[in-house]
Amino acid sequence: MDGHDLVRSVKFVGTTQGLRAVLSAWRRRRTDARYLPPPAAERARVPGPVTGAEPCPGGGVVRFARSRLRVFVATGGAVFWGWDGAEPLPSYALAGTCPEPDTRAELEPDTDGGWRVVSERVTVTVSRHGAVEIRTPGGVTLRRELPPRWWEPTGVNGRPATGRSGFDVPGTAGPAGARWLLRSEVPADARFFGLGGRAGGPRLRDGTYRLWNTDPRGGFGPGDDPLYITMPVQLVVADAGTHLAFYDNSWDGRFALREGEEGAGSGHDRPGTSELRMDGGPLRCWVVTGTPARVLQGWTGLTGAPAVPPAWALGPQHARWGFGCEREVRRVVDGYREHGLPLSALHLDIDHYERHRVFTVDRERFPGLPRLAEDLRAEGVRLVSIVDPAVAAKPGDTVYDGGSAAGAFVRDARGEELRGVVWPGECVFPDFTDPLVRDWWGTLYEERLGQGFSGVWHDMNEPVSFAPFGDPSLPRSARHSLEGRGGDHREAHNVYGLAMARAGYDGLRRLRPDERPFLFSRSGWAGMQRYGGTWSGDVRTGWPGLRASLALVLGLGLCGVPYSGPDVGGFSGSPSPELYLRWLQLGSYLPLFRTHSAIWAGRREPWEFGPEVLEHARAAMAERERLRPYFVTLSHLARLTGAPYVRPLWWGTPGDRALRDCEDAFLLGDALLVAPVLERGADRRAVRLPRGRWYDTATGEVHEGPGQVLLDAPLSRIPVLARAGAVLPVRGADGGPELEVWAPAMGRTGGGLVIADPGTGWDQAEVERYTTRMDDGRVVVERLLDDDPAEPGRPVRIRGLGTP
Ligand code: NOJ
Repeated sequence: MDGHDLVRSVKFVGTTQGLRAVLSAWRRRRTDARYLPPPAAERARVPGPVTGAEPCPGGGVVRFARSRLRVFVATGGAVFWGWDGAEPLPSYALAGTCPEPDTRAELEPDTDGGWRVVSERVTVTVSRHGAVEIRTPGGVTLRRELPPRWWEPTGVNGRPATGRSGFDVPGTAGPAGARWLLRSEVPADARFFGLGGRAGGPRLRDGTYRLWNTDPRGGFGPGDDPLYITMPVQLVVADAGTHLAFYDNSWDGRFALREGEEGAGSGHDRPGTSELRMDGGPLRCWVVTGTPARVLQGWTGLTGAPAVPPAWALGPQHARWGFGCEREVRRVVDGYREHGLPLSALHLDIDHYERHRVFTVDRERFPGLPRLAEDLRAEGVRLVSIVDPAVAAKPGDTVYDGGSAAGAFVRDARGEELRGVVWPGECVFPDFTDPLVRDWWGTLYEERLGQGFSGVWHDMNEPVSFAPFGDPSLPRSARHSLEGRGGDHREAHNVYGLAMARAGYDGLRRLRPDERPFLFSRSGWAGMQRYGGTWSGDVRTGWPGLRASLALVLGLGLCGVPYSGPDVGGFSGSPSPELYLRWLQLGSYLPLFRTHSAIWAGRREPWEFGPEVLEHARAAMAERERLRPYFVTLSHLARLTGAPYVRPLWWGTPGDRALRDCEDAFLLGDALLVAPVLERGADRRAVRLPRGRWYDTATGEVHEGPGQVLLDAPLSRIPVLARAGAVLPVRGADGGPELEVWAPAMGRTGGGLVIADPGTGWDQAEVERYTTRMDDGRVVVERLLDDDPAEPGRPVRIRGLGTP
C-alpha cells in the first residue's frame, strides 16, 4: 500500500461501508498473493523457422520449429489465424458458431520458403519466420504481424515448467499462463479507432490503451483510460483500405499504438505500429477487410447482429439517481407534459430498491410501482429499471438464498463464496460465465416485469467491488465456470458484463417471448451488441466530458455496438445552462437520448435552466421526435448491415485524409451530417464536409464538399446538413409518416432506405428502397419494387429546391 492508498483508506473508513471496502481490498490483495502463481523465471519463445505446412479447409496449418499457425479464410472473407493450437472456439465474442471456411481459398507455397492463402477478397502470407501479412487482392499490405513472442515459466534446467510449450493443447489456446507480445505494422498514413469505449477517441492517438474493464470511480473525462468497455478490436483506416483486427482474448493486456509517418527518416515511410502485450490466453485473431461498411458487416456477421431496441427506446428518456419517491417521479413526468416536452421513458436507479438490494422495491417510498408504471404507460412513458449484479450476502434475502442454494456465486480460490462490497454492503457475485447461473438469473427478471418495468439498465458489472486502493473488482484468483472449462477472474473479468447481458436478454426473451427486450449495459465486450446497447457511464460534467461523450459513441459504433449515448448534462455536477443545452442538442442526435445524473449532482429537467434553454431544448426534442422514423430505420439497418447509426465523417470516403482526423462531427446514417457545438461560447463553427452537395437544414444554404465551411451555430441549434439526393422518413406535421427528400444536384441521383417500425415483436422489417433524380428541374422520387420503379406510396416533401 503506498501513501495514496493509505490516505484513501483512511477517508473510506469513515463509514461502515468504507471499513468493509478497506477490508475487502486487503482480502483481495492477500488472496491473490497467496493463490496466483508467483512470478517465476521465464523464458522467451518465438516460433522459429518454418518446417512445413499442410492444407486444411480454407487455408492450412504452417509448422515452425517451436509452434504452429493455423490460418484460414472464412466464407464472407474474414481471415482467422491462431498460434499454438488456438482455434476460433471457444469464444465469448463469436455468435455461437464459427463461420465456415471458404473452401475456394487455398494454401500455396510462397517465395522465400513461406506460405500463402489466396482467396477472392484477401491474401494472407506467412513468412518463413512467422510474420503474417494481410493483403488486398491487388497485393497491397493492410497489416503485417511480426512473429509473436511468448514468455513461459521455466522449470529446472530452463525447460518449460509444464514439460510442453502448449501448442498441443487441444481446442483452446496455448498455455493459459504464458504472456505474449505481438507487434503489428499498418501503413504510414493509417489511423487507429476502436478498442471499445475510449474517452480520448475516436481517433486513437499514440499511447497505451489497457484492456481491462474498469469503473473510473466518480466520473471520467477524455484523459481517463481504461473505462467500462474495453475490447481488443482495432479498426484501421488507411489509403490502402480499411480493416478490423480482433484479438480474441479476454485477458488483461495493453495496446501501445503509434501512428506512422510518411516520408520519415531519409524519405522513407515509418509504418504505424500496434504492440499488444497480453498477460495470458490465446494468441488468435480475426481480420476483416473492405470498405468501412463491409468491415462492419463482416464483423457483426462474426459476432452477431445488433439487437433492435423497441421504437420507444429511440425517444427522449429521463433518469436520475435519487428520485426519492413516487411523487417525485410523477412530478417530473408531469413537468415534461406541462412544458410540452416529449418523454418516452423514465429510469429508476438503485434508490428505488430496498436497502439497495437488486430485485426489491422500497415500498415506503415506492408503494405502488405497478400502478405507477401503468399510469405512466397510459401517457406513453415506459419505466426502465437499473439492475446491478451484486447480491447482498444476507441469508433471508430471497435472491441470495436462491443463488446460494444453486451454487450461483463466484467462489474464491479456496472454494468459498467470494465476498465484496457494493451498494447493499457485503455482496456476492453471480458467476455469469456458468450457463446454469445465467438461466437462474434470467428468471429473476420476472419480478421486474411484474413491477411494470419495460426495460433494464445493467450497471456496476465490470464487475465493481468497492476498494479504496487497487483494482475495484474481484480478486484475480476468483474462480469462474467459463462455460464449464474452469478458470479464474483473469480470464472472466472482461466478459463478465457481456455474460450478464446474455443472462438478462435471454431471461427477458423467455419471460416475454413476443417482445424484443430493451437492455443496455455499462460494461461489456466484443459481441455485446447481440443483447443490447450501452451508455457513457459516469461522464464528468464539463466541456471535456461533452467531447468524450461523442468519442465514446463513435468508437463503440466502430466496434459493432451501435446503440449508446451519454448522460446528458454529465453525471457528476451542475452544468451551466449553455453546457446543458449543447449536451442535449448533441444527445438528441444520438441513439440513446437520456438525461441522467448522480444523486449529489444538479437537476437535469430542461425547465430547470431558464426559459431560453427550455425553448431551445423543446425545439431539439421536437426535432428528435420528427426524426424518430429515421432512427427506427437506422436501428433496423444496424441489425441488417452492422452499420452504426452514428458514423465518422470518413465512413463513405475513407480515402479523405482530412476527414479521418475530424472528430467533432458525425454522420447520422447516410442522410445527415451533425456538427455539435463542443466549445463554450461558440456561436459559429467550422464543419468539414465529405464530397458531394450538402444543404444546411436550417437555412437551406448549399455547400459543396469536400472542404470546410463556417456555419452559424446560435444557441437555438447546432448545424445539421442533409446530403443532396437523400430520402429519409420523418413524422409529418400531422404526425403521419412522410418522406423528406433533399433535391439531388443536377445530373446526380440519390436515394435512401426506409424501414417502418414493425412493432415491439419479432416481425421481419420490410426494407423500402427509394431513388431520386432531377428531371427537367423537377425532383423525381420512385420506390423500387422488385427493382421496378413505382410511385413512392407515402407523402413526399421535397426540400432544397430553388438551388442551382
Ligand atoms: C453508477 C452508474 O454509472 C450510474 O449511472 C448510477 O447512477 C450509479 N451507479 C448508481 O446506481
